[in-house]
Amino acid sequence: MIRLAKPSIPEVAINNVREIFKSGDLVQGKYVKEFETALQKYLNTSNSIIVSSGTAALHLCLMALGIKEGDEVIVPAFTFPATANVIEIVGAVPVLVDISFNDYCLNVSRIISKITDKTKAIIPVHEFGQSADIEPIMQIARKYNLMIIEDAACALGTEYNGKKAGTFGNVGCYSFHPRKAITTGEGGLIVTDDRIIADKVRALRNHGISDTNDFTYAGLNYRMTDFQAAIGLAQMDNIEKAIENRIEMAHSYDKLLENCDYIRTPDILPIRRNIYQTYHILLDEIIDRDKLIVNLRDNGVQTNFGAHALHCLTYFREKYGYEDIDFPISKQAYKNGLALPLGDHLKNEDIKFIVEKLKMI
Ligand SMILES: Cc1ncc(COP(=O)(O)O)c(C=O)c1O
Repeated sequence: MIRLAKPSIPEVAINNVREIFKSGDLVQGKYVKEFETALQKYLNTSNSIIVSSGTAALHLCLMALGIKEGDEVIVPAFTFPATANVIEIVGAVPVLVDISFNDYCLNVSRIISKITDKTKAIIPVHEFGQSADIEPIMQIARKYNLMIIEDAACALGTEYNGKKAGTFGNVGCYSFHPRKAITTGEGGLIVTDDRIIADKVRALRNHGISDTNDFTYAGLNYRMTDFQAAIGLAQMDNIEKAIENRIEMAHSYDKLLENCDYIRTPDILPIRRNIYQTYHILLDEIIDRDKLIVNLRDNGVQTNFGAHALHCLTYFREKYGYEDIDFPISKQAYKNGLALPLGDHLKNEDIKFIVEKLKMI
């Protein structure tokens, strides 16, 4: 089976993990610090705080920024549910906005009409490793005095105008889940240039403990273990090469699929560097995507849908009374989107084979 994704963990990481287990210092040791420093340098940001997952990162940011019951937060309708779930968890309301087909991210022209007196923040998602159109979103945030929490879960290494996605807003959140650019199994990261927010996030990830060993907040335990950090750190040396490799593979798919009029390949947009965390295609509406997933699996190719249309999920539909037609682009991206295998585990022949199977539909 050609797998959708397969993390490649360097041998040095496995050796370091062995050393950590022998030492007995399993939690928040030197590797967490070193991994934080390496990420801070890579992203060119002032503060980086590693946590136990991308979801934990988003949750801590909402807490640190004081988002609470009665507040509204604008999110794209097409994303992984964690983006909106954390808003629900702090008691605020996720306000959905449709996306654009050209980047699968927030449609900037739809944001302003959703802003009310209660709106406190926007969470732009850099979906599938493509950057959202972040500069105009920042302009809206400045004009309406809103905070920006970038969901860069899929976008470590993504760029907009030469600047790393996740470093534009008040805070940026990343995930180290196995399908991401770097993986620690489970894991996440928060970056911010705001020292006060950084200190608050650091305390909140560790039960609310202050530097003086007092408990100044009601915090959580969202720490990462040292052996996870060692696995992540070992992948940092190769991150740019791995991304360039993904970009090259994505362009091979683009070329091989260019004459398929029933498939839309990802748009290549000026000033944005897509790291292709997912190579996501959009199928013509006449194609039954779910049948195709089964058909490809029977031919030895693992594929999957890309992301969810939140308004079609039971929780959000029942709570807010959404109808399928409310966010048509998100609905179509969910229903007709397909993620193809991508990563170091693929050879050129695999990509040709996958495209051959796709062309047989
Ligand atoms: C856009 C987005 N946000 C948040 C998350 C949550 O990250 P994690 O699985 O590390 O909790 C994901 C996970 O895939 C995601 O795709």
